[in-house]
Amino acid sequence: MEPNKKYTEKEMNPLHSLEDWEEDILVRYPENEAPGKAKEEYRNYDNPERDTVREFYRLNHKYQTYDFVREKEKEFLKFDKKEMPVWSALEYLNTLIDDSDPDIDLDQLQHLLQTSEAIRADGHPDWFVLTGFLHDMGKVLCLFGEPQWAVVGDTFPVGCQFSDRIVYPEFFKDNPDSYNQQFNTKYGVYEPNCGLRNVHMSWGHDEYLYHMVKDYLPEPALYMIRYHSFYAQHRESAYEHLMDDHDREMFQWVKKFNPYDLYSKNPKPPVVAELKPYYQELIAKYLPATLKM
Ligand SMILES: [Fe+2]
Ligand SMILES: [Fe+2]
Repeated sequence: MEPNKKYTEKEMNPLHSLEDWEEDILVRYPENEAPGKAKEEYRNYDNPERDTVREFYRLNHKYQTYDFVREKEKEFLKFDKKEMPVWSALEYLNTLIDDSDPDIDLDQLQHLLQTSEAIRADGHPDWFVLTGFLHDMGKVLCLFGEPQWAVVGDTFPVGCQFSDRIVYPEFFKDNPDSYNQQFNTKYGVYEPNCGLRNVHMSWGHDEYLYHMVKDYLPEPALYMIRYHSFYAQHRESAYEHLMDDHDREMFQWVKKFNPYDLYSKNPKPPVVAELKPYYQELIAKYLPATLKM
């Protein structure tokens, strides 16, 4: 795939590794902390990685405009880039090269397996286990030459006012939508409580994977996939005014899923070869032999 020429290399890859974003969320939302509120010390947390994460959000908040999202939807929801079996897609995802420390960091497939194995250990239905296993597959966007800030990062609605409960809200001052009267009011282009299905979210791996699998999985699974990075809502309740009753019901599942994503990281890597037959069967039960990406 042609590399994206619109941005400089520094703008494309502000993070050393995609994991840096997820590790940073753990600092913001530590395990066993009171829910609904980001840790107070988060903003003062001092770490050299912090600067790269800040820069990552600066770019994310600057470039994720309503028009940018609509462009990406047009470009990627045609699913004309690749077609492969799920397992191959996840192996492909694992070719994401980063300079994170291989001794302490799990690769993408291991993160997915730890998430899904923790769900399985708690006795949840098999489609929930499968959701844990698939939830980050949309990160293949990175291999299609997309900038990191258009693949990972907290997601949020575009086309209406950016909430100050989104992480690093001050960076939205660089987003042209903040000055566009069509987009900068509470509801923007939307109606009160119109339901999230009518709302365009910032572009990334969540939205992309949702569209890839939306015909095959039960609805709670689709909500978990589509909104797992929407921390401003599932942790901060900042967008109640766009949600309808159905969203509220389904967000119970998004909230149930989040701890498995964040807190299942175990230094002991899962043995992929041992688990593969179970997951191959599970994939075959719900999904077609190949998926279009
Ligand atoms: Fe994710
Ligand atoms: Fe994840």
